[in-house]
Amino acid sequence: MSTKHKIAVIPGDGIGPEVVEQGISVLNKAAELDGNIQFEFTSFPWGCEYYAKHGKMMDDDGIDQLKEFDAIYLGAVGYPGVPDHISLWELLLKIRKSFDQYVNLRPITLLKGAPTLLKEDKQDIDMLVIRENSEGEYAGAGDWLFKDKPEEVVLQTGVFSRKGTERIIRHAYEEAWRSGRTLTSISKGNALNYSMVFWDQVFEEVGKEYPDVKTYSYLVDAASMFFVQDPGRFEVVVTSNLFGDIITDLGAGLAGGLGLAAGANINPTKEYPSMFEPIHGSAPDISGKQIANPLAAIWSASQMMDFFGHEDWGRRILQAMEQVMTEKETLTPDMGGSSSTADVGEAVSQAVEHILKEV
Ligand code: NAD
Ligand code: IPM
Ligand code: MN
Repeated sequence: MSTKHKIAVIPGDGIGPEVVEQGISVLNKAAELDGNIQFEFTSFPWGCEYYAKHGKMMDDDGIDQLKEFDAIYLGAVGYPGVPDHISLWELLLKIRKSFDQYVNLRPITLLKGAPTLLKEDKQDIDMLVIRENSEGEYAGAGDWLFKDKPEEVVLQTGVFSRKGTERIIRHAYEEAWRSGRTLTSISKGNALNYSMVFWDQVFEEVGKEYPDVKTYSYLVDAASMFFVQDPGRFEVVVTSNLFGDIITDLGAGLAGGLGLAAGANINPTKEYPSMFEPIHGSAPDISGKQIANPLAAIWSASQMMDFFGHEDWGRRILQAMEQVMTEKETLTPDMGGSSSTADVGEAVSQAVEHILKEV
């Protein structure tokens, strides 16, 4: 039976459209080879250029329009000219929050052939960071009092609800239990004496339901050091919104660079669409040159395949990326090559075809 997936595409700003185009090509190639999967892509022109014309980042009923789709595929948002806190809050963060995509899955895995600065005996990098994605430091709660006066005060309040904290931690325990991996919580209870003390308490409480899961708990500063010095000690990791943002760019730096790091914003109830995106931004420094690495966007397309239950295709796409990186003939400059974004996308599509025919 044929399955059709309706995907809303938001290419966004800078290198976003360049990399997303390649992800779509790879998805279409997989669908064509499969014969029973179909994708229907609908593109939305939202982003900073749209803002320049219309004074807003997306249509007023944008969230309603997106509701109709099975998933969202996003490039990147943000560009000089529009303040970042406006562009990101009115588009990316708005979608994550409106669709209660409270689980942010960010695999930090050193794929075969991917470049790394780490010595060979430290290259055991295969972790899944589960980042809380709906509240915490990103709750948007605060105030700006006495603005522009000498006595001005700004408040940015972290919001850690019982519901929000429990559900992300439970999700991480489930994942660790299901896959037989250890679970590490990263927090900062020594300094954040309300939010992170609460986080650590919930981590312990929920852990009682999962006696078989081996757990570790680190402070975020020490964890950052271990990420670099001994990444092999991490398997499944659960952490707050801001810490998850920071440590996954750190992880990306260890495992192939920002051009390779992917993320999935999941609404586990499936009440609303989930969103797939590279974790990098719009990279204004290289945009328009067709040299952005599309592998992060392609990896997030692989996560989309997994989400739809096509894990065989999710795996093949990753294998194809590994093949391209191992051969080292078609790579963008960030990985030491001189190929274009489209060349790399095409090489992955060809490798996908090759892998299917080999088996
Ligand atoms: P960035 O991720 O855009 O770029 C950081 C560095 O990594 C740059 O040197 C860039 O050239 C490089 N890089 C990123 N992606 C790459 C790729 N695919 N291939 C090769 N090199 C790549 O981060 P930034 O410069 O801090 O932010 C730029 C803009 O993007 C800002 O407006 C920021 O708010 C926004 N941003 C958006 C997202 C998102 O939409 N998800 C994520 C991060 C940053
Ligand atoms: C990411 C980005 C976003 C975040 C920004 C652009 C708001 O850095 O997806 O990692 O902090 O979540
Ligand atoms: Mn980030």
